[in-house]
Amino acid sequence: MDTFAFIIHPIDPKRDVSRKFPLLGRVLNEKQIDFFSSFFPPVYISEIEGIKSQATGKEIKGWFVACPYTPKRMLELPERTVYRKIIQTGRMAEKLGADILGLGAFTSVVGDAGITIAKGLDVPVTTGDSYTVIVAVNAIREAAAIMDIPLRGATAAVVGATGAIGQVCAELLADDVERLYLIGRRQETLEELRDRLKVHARAELIISTNMDVLSESQLILTVTSAIHDVVRPEHLQPGSVVCDVARPRDVSAMVAAARDDILVIDGGMVDVPGSVDFHFNFGFPPGKAYACMAETIALALEGRFEDYTLGKHLTRERAEEIGRIAMKHGFRLSGFRSFEREVTPDHIEEVRRNARKAHRVRKVHT
Ligand SMILES: NC(=O)c1ccc[n+]([C@@H]2O[C@H](COP(=O)([O-])OP(=O)(O)OC[C@H]3O[C@@H](n4cnc5c(N)ncnc54)[C@H](OP(=O)(O)O)[C@@H]3O)[C@@H](O)[C@H]2O)c1
Repeated sequence: MDTFAFIIHPIDPKRDVSRKFPLLGRVLNEKQIDFFSSFFPPVYISEIEGIKSQATGKEIKGWFVACPYTPKRMLELPERTVYRKIIQTGRMAEKLGADILGLGAFTSVVGDAGITIAKGLDVPVTTGDSYTVIVAVNAIREAAAIMDIPLRGATAAVVGATGAIGQVCAELLADDVERLYLIGRRQETLEELRDRLKVHARAELIISTNMDVLSESQLILTVTSAIHDVVRPEHLQPGSVVCDVARPRDVSAMVAAARDDILVIDGGMVDVPGSVDFHFNFGFPPGKAYACMAETIALALEGRFEDYTLGKHLTRERAEEIGRIAMKHGFRLSGFRSFEREVTPDHIEEVRRNARKAHRVRKVHT
């Protein structure tokens, strides 16, 4: 049977360590977990079974293995120390017999995005970023339809537009919308991106290093590698949709608390074909996975055991290809979730009602 493995790591230290080690999660505080994570070896998490292609009937199995570092730790420690720990975790996957290895969340962000890690391992490696692009862009297209925002006339924004995932998301959205803000921290890199995209873009492209322009955007896709929130309530206009692909999240929990007129959705959740059992709770309902996990699984179903997405320069062609492969085997964009909860039709209706109210109040005041 063909196999895969996927590396995960703690994001919220207390919550995620408790999922595997309830006692440690209870007695240690966040700072202690961050500190001790440096000395922890890779951790075997679980076997994944029940995945079956809808196209070919092929069945595969896999494993979760964990790199113990938190995102904060990965940014603080020297790159080579982090690479070493991720490669050690990859070796555990090799010993289990994995035919392909996926890098979850920050293990795919660190340094050169998988290139050094792949060189240090025999098993083929993928970051999962190509399929993450496709799922995020499809999610925002679908959310726009639900919120009655016609794409053709819309103003959209990509936050973290100069990043690996952000660049291709921007390239795809530039075909759809009227005006697209490319938001990042470095003016020069943004200018290069704009100049490259404008050759084919349908949309007017505007670059900015200031989050205030979000107030002019109806559709926002945010995908930075910041370890703290970057999108806050005061940035957003009523009725807008924010698709948060980043882990840790980019959207402040304050948005959920203070803005009942905004639709915030998680950007990367898909239904896995078959009756998958992960034997581990990573925070999603049964049968659903992150897009980056799904890329690894789809490649195993397709028998494409090769380094697939590596490095910071993704291409639209690769993203579209993995989109087709995943579609063929039965992966589907899942229902929306927001801050760990399902987004129900009632919630969407409430957001729309509150947005109309907020617009009326704004008109009165202007
Ligand atoms: N949901 C999923 O399935 C899934 C899958 C894969 C990855 N992800 C997540 O996607 C995110 C991005 O990954 P990536 O590989 O595209 O990362 P990346 O290539 O490192 O790009 C990150 C982008 O974020 C910007 N950035 C970093 N810190 C920032 C800050 N404090 N404020 C504003 N912008 C900041 C960077 O700007 P500079 O160029 O100025 O540094 C860059 O444009 C990560 O959170 C990752 O965990 C999610």
